[in-house]
Amino acid sequence: MAGKLMRAVQYNGYGGGTAALKQVEVPVPSRPSKGEVVLKVEATALNPFDWKIQKGVLRPFMPKKFPFIPANDVAGEVVEVGPGVENFKPGDKVIAGLNVGMGGGLAEYCVAKADVTVLRPAEVSAAEGACLPAAGTTAHGILIAAGLKFDGSGPQKNILITAASGGVGHLAVQLAKLANAHVTATCGARNLDFVRSLGADEVLDYKTPEGAALKSPSGKKYDAVIQCAPPVPWSVFEPNLSRTGKVLDLSPGASAMWTFAVKKITMSKKKLVPFFASVKGENLVFLAELVKQGRLKVVIDCKHPLSDAGAAWAKCIEGHATGKIVVEP
Ligand SMILES: NC(=O)c1ccc[n+]([C@@H]2O[C@H](COP(=O)([O-])OP(=O)(O)OC[C@H]3O[C@@H](n4cnc5c(N)ncnc54)[C@H](OP(=O)(O)O)[C@@H]3O)[C@@H](O)[C@H]2O)c1
Repeated sequence: MAGKLMRAVQYNGYGGGTAALKQVEVPVPSRPSKGEVVLKVEATALNPFDWKIQKGVLRPFMPKKFPFIPANDVAGEVVEVGPGVENFKPGDKVIAGLNVGMGGGLAEYCVAKADVTVLRPAEVSAAEGACLPAAGTTAHGILIAAGLKFDGSGPQKNILITAASGGVGHLAVQLAKLANAHVTATCGARNLDFVRSLGADEVLDYKTPEGAALKSPSGKKYDAVIQCAPPVPWSVFEPNLSRTGKVLDLSPGASAMWTFAVKKITMSKKKLVPFFASVKGENLVFLAELVKQGRLKVVIDCKHPLSDAGAAWAKCIEGHATGKIVVEP
């Protein structure tokens, strides 16, 4: 592979949105380091994290260097294995979560760490597989943090999932039902039936007064809120929480971090907890197995070719996808 060129999409600095993405030809990565594999990419899923990094929310820590090839969630075929990699061989179909600071997903080939790479069951398409690393492991991890158990043990919990039609939310609703929760969910009017079809017990249109107030139609108080939607003031959550209810916030801004600190210092029983996911191989295996068994459905809003990755990027920035956005080389 050394010396061969591949198509990729990259940007050269912070800001600029879709217009700053450039279609380029760069060398195919080769000779992977210890514990790494080179993949021929079959599908890449975008996450809001990707355009937030471009915007500079983690400046100066991420990206680690420019020019930067964004996106971290891929499915593909192993073409080369680095020293010490014993569980993969060329030809294996896999799913991988790439190093978030290094990116590399919007390209024909990329480098992945073997410990966050898992075999993709034949029943799981490349596009479905690519949707699992960030969105799937976040949905899974945040429900565990909310106290849900996937082995059927423990009492039933009342969970609110906001932005249940999105990439994380649509997987969280299904996983919460598998963990025996009572699920209330918020989404836009056009997605009410869709979110019900995922298994939500009660669904609220976020643009109605009841939806904006996050009130359970049956009057249930929430043991946990899986906060995937844009920021909501604590005063809206507070009256809807059970005595020890907590809000797990995926995108905590300054106000949420303040609430987190105040609740901690005052040892409040009701809490707001910032949640940051990290992709683990064992969780990816669990999720891929659920998709294989037909117990978890990955919903794909749209697919775009790599040559039109800008359209996928723009759609992700808009924040109105139903399910996931996928780019294919
Ligand atoms: N901390 C972490 O580790 C972590 C990991 C993953 C994701 N995240 C964050 O979690 C958030 C959700 O991610 P995602 O991938 O699920 O986003 P996404 O797919 O872009 O979410 C889009 C969905 O959100 C819905 N939505 C927008 N505003 C809403 C509101 N006020 N109430 C209810 N639904 C609303 C939209 O419905 P309409 O089209 O009807 O408006 C759309 O279906 C993002 O901020 C992301 O950065 C954090």
